[in-house]
Amino acid sequence: MNVTNEQIQLARRPVGTPVMEDFAFVEAPVASPEDGELLVRTVYVSVDPYLRGRMQDAKSYIPPFQLGEVISSGVIAQVVESKSDQFAKGDLVLGALGWQRYTVTRAEAVRKIDASIEPVTLHLSMLGMTGLTAYFGLLDIGQPKEGETVVVSGAAGAVGSTVGQIAKIHGARVVGIAGTAEKCDYLTEQLGFDVAINYKEEVKAALREACPDGIDVYFDNVGGTISDAVFPLLNKFARIPVCGAISSYNNTEVEMGPRVQTALIKTSALMKGFTVGDYSDRYGEGLTALTTWYKEGKLKYEETITEGFDHIIDAFLDLFKGANLGKSIVKVAEIE
Ligand SMILES: NC(=O)c1ccc[n+]([C@@H]2O[C@H](COP(=O)([O-])OP(=O)(O)OC[C@H]3O[C@@H](n4cnc5c(N)ncnc54)[C@H](OP(=O)(O)O)[C@@H]3O)[C@@H](O)[C@H]2O)c1
Repeated sequence: MNVTNEQIQLARRPVGTPVMEDFAFVEAPVASPEDGELLVRTVYVSVDPYLRGRMQDAKSYIPPFQLGEVISSGVIAQVVESKSDQFAKGDLVLGALGWQRYTVTRAEAVRKIDASIEPVTLHLSMLGMTGLTAYFGLLDIGQPKEGETVVVSGAAGAVGSTVGQIAKIHGARVVGIAGTAEKCDYLTEQLGFDVAINYKEEVKAALREACPDGIDVYFDNVGGTISDAVFPLLNKFARIPVCGAISSYNNTEVEMGPRVQTALIKTSALMKGFTVGDYSDRYGEGLTALTTWYKEGKLKYEETITEGFDHIIDAFLDLFKGANLGKSIVKVAEIE
C-alpha cells in the first residue's frame, strides 16, 4: 500500500512521570499482508495506566516495551485488506495492536467485534477490558453481599465506575473515592453511589463518616495513602481485590506506608492481587453479564474521547492528572 505509516515508539524509559520526550513519532512504510494476515487501519486506541509499567525494564505479568518498539494497547481497527477467509474488508476488529495508523497482523491475533453494540468504543471500555476487570475483581475476589459496604478508589475512572455500579446491582452500599468535586457529583447523581469522597480534600475522617458500619470490600485501584486510610476501618472477613496502584506508578523510590499484616490478621481479611488475564477462560461469562446489565439500563458508562493520532500521548499522560472521566480512548480515524 502506497501510504506512509505513522508510529509512536518508546524512545527512552520514563523516569518518574512520563513526558512527551519519552516517545518518538516515526514514519515507516506500510507492509502488504501475506496469507493469513490482515492490513488494518487504526480507528480507536485505548490508553491505560498499566502501560506505564510496561515502559520500565522490569519483570511483570507482561513483557516490557523495548526501546524503539511501537507502543501497543487495546485497539479497534477496520480491515483494509484481508488475506484471511475469516475477515472481509470493512470488518471491525479488536486486538492488542500498535499505536500506528496501519498494522499488518495475523488474523488470529484479532477478533471481529459486534458492530451492533453502540458505541463501538464500549468494546474497549465497559464491555471490554476495563469492564471485565471490574466484574471479575469485584465478584470473584470482593464477593459483595446485600447490605455490605463496598469502597472503591479511582471510582470515577473506567474500572472504578463499573465496580461501583456492579456492587449496587448486588445490593451493597457503595462509597467512591475520586479526585474532584465534579467526579464525586457524577458518582452520586448519575451512577447511584451512596457517598463519594474527594480525596484531594480529606480521606480519613470522610471515610469514617461514610462507613459507620465499617468496610466489607475495598476495591483498590490506586494504593498509597488513600488505601492506608481504609485499613483501620476493615470489618471481620473483609475482602480487598488489589486491581491497581496508580498513585505509585511514577514513583522513583519505593514508598513506605503502614504495614498491613496486623490489620489483615485482626480482621481475617483477604487481600488479593489479580490481573484481568487471570480470568481469560471466563471472559464470555463476564461479557454476557455486563452486556445484559447494560441493555437493562443498570450499567451506565462515560468515555473521555480525545481526537487525533497526534494526541495519543497527551491522553495517556492525562490519566496521571485525572483528566479523564470514565474510560479514556483516542479516536484516530472515522469508521468507513
Ligand atoms: N489488574 C488489572 O487487570 C487491571 C486492569 C485495568 C486497570 N487496572 C488498574 O486499575 C486502575 C484504574 O485503571 P483505569 O483503566 O480504570 O484508569 P482510570 O481510573 O480510568 O484512569 C486513571 C485515574 O486514576 C486516578 N489517579 C491518577 N493519579 C492518581 C493518584 N496519584 N492517586 C489517586 N488516583 C489517581 C485519576 O482519577 P482521579 O481524578 O480520581 O485522581 C485518573 O482519572 C489503575 O491502577 C490500573 O492500572 C488493573
